[in-house]
Parts: sequence; structure tokens; C-alpha cells
Amino acid sequence: MYPAQAHVLKSFNKLVELLPATEQNKTQVILLAGAVTPFRNDTDREMLFRQESNFYYLSGCQVPGSYLLLTFQNGTSLANNPLRQLFIPKVELADLMWSVPPPTVEEATATHDATRIAHVDTLVSAIDEQLRAYPGATFHILPASSPLFPTLPSKYTGVVLAANAHITDDYLLPALHRARLTKDADEIAAIKKANAISSRAHEVVMRVLGQGVRGAIKRGKGAGLERPLLPGEWLIEKEAEAEALFVASCRREGSIHQAYLPIVAASTRASTLHYCCNDRDFAWGPVAPHAHENGNCLAQDEDRQLNPQVLLIDAGCEWNCYASDITRTMPIGNGGKFTPEARAIYELVLEMQRLSMESLKPGVHWDAIQLICHRTLVRGFQRLGIFKSSESPNSGSWNAEEAILASGVSAAFFPHGVGHSLGLDVHDVPSASKPQQNDTIGKGLELGHESFYTYLRLRLPLEEGMVVTVEPGIYFSPHLLAPVRDSRHIDHDVLQRYESVGGVRIEDVVVITKDGYENLTAVRSDTNWVEGVCSGAL
Ligand code: GLY
Ligand code: MN
Ligand code: MN
Repeated sequence: MYPAQAHVLKSFNKLVELLPATEQNKTQVILLAGAVTPFRNDTDREMLFRQESNFYYLSGCQVPGSYLLLTFQNGTSLANNPLRQLFIPKVELADLMWSVPPPTVEEATATHDATRIAHVDTLVSAIDEQLRAYPGATFHILPASSPLFPTLPSKYTGVVLAANAHITDDYLLPALHRARLTKDADEIAAIKKANAISSRAHEVVMRVLGQGVRGAIKRGKGAGLERPLLPGEWLIEKEAEAEALFVASCRREGSIHQAYLPIVAASTRASTLHYCCNDRDFAWGPVAPHAHENGNCLAQDEDRQLNPQVLLIDAGCEWNCYASDITRTMPIGNGGKFTPEARAIYELVLEMQRLSMESLKPGVHWDAIQLICHRTLVRGFQRLGIFKSSESPNSGSWNAEEAILASGVSAAFFPHGVGHSLGLDVHDVPSASKPQQNDTIGKGLELGHESFYTYLRLRLPLEEGMVVTVEPGIYFSPHLLAPVRDSRHIDHDVLQRYESVGGVRIEDVVVITKDGYENLTAVRSDTNWVEGVCSGAL
């Protein structure tokens, strides 16, 4: 059973820590609305239901239209065992006729970790009961005016206001984000399962690409003429086809939601970090490998060849509301092998990721991991000749590693953060990950350049139980390169050879353990394996 009691207790303890000392021993009540089933207009048909993450965290309940009423008080029995009341909707005849009804109270009691489960029509009297039992109680709600959370109807908050009790949205969300920042064993198991399903989906796409290269995907009699193609006859020749197979693979394994819209970007579109169209064909010849002129023309012409290009897929499904977030970059065309330029960039991104991962353990500041990536990129670009190297051993030279780092030019190629917290949401617990007031930022670190940290979504020392992504990338985006076109650190002739690689990102999800980390992402990313699978050799 989902460990709701432990999550309620952890959240109340974080909440009390945030309160002024004079408030900490008073009764605290949480009143929370769950998500309702959304409908698309003029279809009379439900859209996919997804429980609000905080509600799920405190209840494990996925019944649409439910409510929670939780009561805690330091120094009383409620401090170890908060009262946890869950309210679910009553079955209506129309539910039975059109859709699947909510569980009965008895059924919900068997599957949920709550002190008491009742119907929503008893919620007003239950709030009233808490007001009478605990006259000085403070009621905590999620930000009332935010569209990000389900609306708490005024008939419920009105009962609290009518009793002149204190109601506030100042503390609950920060407390929940702090509680959710580190994960327990059940949460890690759910994230691992989401990652396992998504890992297989990435491998499915790579293997179908490889079968296409080997010519192993044959069309049976009448395929595409008298009858539609069956899945075993599907080639991947455009972004949409890769996305469809990825999502189908997850769905076949029982995952309901993607944790975010998949990013499926071929060729130079891989330089758009959160590319969202997924609607283009791969680039087809005859044109030079990686040339900007590569078209997006239709693939039916048997005489044309796929141009050598990359396909970047950043996609991950959810399992029981817990996310995964995996990026793999694979070779298309060229017999399923990277071009020398794409391979060099791919291996440099792998090195950024490997060196980052080798440093992961509790106490290490995430800023330091970001800096490792920039330092590795600078060294790698100097090896490749994209950045000029210092000819003198004098480390004070203008083109020495430190000087290039201090200039910030590497941010034009690696503009985003190396990773973020992941859990119920893919960019999990933002207020706890990147606190407004943060004494730990940059403490004792050589910071490099401030631009490295602009889009860093985690700015904390790591703790055991945090789940984070490690997702370095290197991109050649015309928009990001425009401001560094006259940089003296860049050999612009060499850069030109690499620009049409577009972009490479490699992203895994890891959990921080007592003395290191565990990688929760199973699909491999080493170059020989990726090329072996994508070329059909493995
Ligand atoms: N999938 C979005 C990200 O990697 O942050
Ligand atoms: Mn990510
Ligand atoms: Mn991602």
C-alpha cells in the first residue's frame, strides 16, 4: 500500500519547521482538493485523469473529485499518528452508465492508508468537527489563486472562515516540496519501474531503426495497399514514427501517462532543447552529410538515402504518478553509425556524464557537478580544436582552460543545467530545489561563470534519497551561437565542421545513496552498443 501516513507525517514536520515558534505547538490542519476529471468541450468525453501530485503524495488516492482533511499537533498523539480523513465521491447512476464508478468506501478502505474514508458529502461536517475539537487550529491550503492546483470550493473554506479560524496558503506548498525532495523506498521503486519501462521503449526505437538498416522489416502481402501496415512492418523514417513507437511501448506495459510530452528531434532540430513538434521527416539526400540544406522531403522515393544525422529522443513515462526522464541520441543514416563529428561530440557528452556521475554522493553541491560538465566540455573542445588552446604552459594565458571557463563561452554550447530533482513531477519540487534564499550556493566552489547557473534547477548539496537526472548536452544552435560568433576562444573554421551535428544529450536518472549513487536508468548509452543496435549488428 502507498505509504501515505509516512508522507503526511514528514510533510507536517516540515510545515511546523517553517512556522513561527509561537505557532509550532498549535493544531495544524491540511485541507486539500484532489484533481477532478477534465472534459473536452462538446465531446461528452473525459480527458485523461491525472491526480494532483501533492494530493497523491499525501493519500496515494487516484479517485477523481476526492478531498483530504489531515490533523496534526506537536506534543500529542497526533504528532506520531496524524488524523487522516479521505473523502471520495459517491457512486452516481450516471457514473455506472457512462463510465467506471469510483470505489465504494469499503473498497477504498482496503486499498488506501487513511485513518477514515467517507463520502465527500460529509466533508463540511468533518471540517466543522475539527473546528470544534481544536478551536485554535490553523488550516493550511495550497496557493488559492494558482491555476496549478485544483480549486478548493468556497463551501469548504467558508466553514473555516465562518468560525474565524486562521487559514493560510503560506506554508503548505513549501513544506510539501521540502518533504518530497528526498524519496523513500516505495517512491524509488516506482521511479525505477517508470525508468525500466521507458528504457525498454528507447531500446525498441533503436532496435527498429537497426532492423530498418538491415532491411529486416518486410511488408507482407497487400501491406499499405489493400490493408494498413501492421506494427512489425513499421519503419521509422520520421520523428512522429519514432514517437509513436516509444509511446506504444510504454502503453503496452501499462503506463498511462508520459511524464512530459516526448521530445523527438532529428538532425539540426536536436539543438532545440525542448523541441515539441515531432512532426518532421528525417533528412534525406542526396546532399552532404549534416549539411544545413538537408531537406525534410517525403521518404517514399526509394532512390534517396537517409542523410547521416542524429535522432535525439528525450522521453519518459510515469508509473503510479512517478516520473522517468531519459534522453538518448542515436545515429540515423550512415548505416546506423555516427559520423566522425557526431561521434566525437557524443563521446564528449558521455564523458561529461561519466565524470559527473563519478562525483555524486551526499554533501557534494550540485553547482560543482555543473562546473565539472563545463570544465570537461572546455577540455574536450580544446582537444577537438573547436576552442583554441594555450600554447604556453602559463595558465594565466587568455586561452587557458580557466580563462575560457571564466569567459562563459561554453554556455553557448551547454546552456542548460546538468539535471534536476525528479519524482512525482519531472521537474520536481522547484521551491525546495532552488530556494529563493540559499546560503549554500557557490560556497567554497570555483564558480566559473554565472551564466552556467541560469537554468540550473537544483542548487543544493546532494542528500541521500534525492533522485536527480544527470543530463549533459552539447548543442550547435544558431540562436545560441550568434552572440559568440566573434569569440576569440573559438576556431570558427573547426566549429563549422561540427555545427550540423545539431545536438547531443544523454540523460539518466539516479538516486543518491549513502556513499554514492545508483543509476535507475537501464538502457545503455555507450557508443559501441548504440551503434551496434542502431546499425542492426546487435
Ligand atoms: N525532459 C525535460 C528535461 O530533461 O528536463
Ligand atoms: Mn531532465
Ligand atoms: Mn529529459
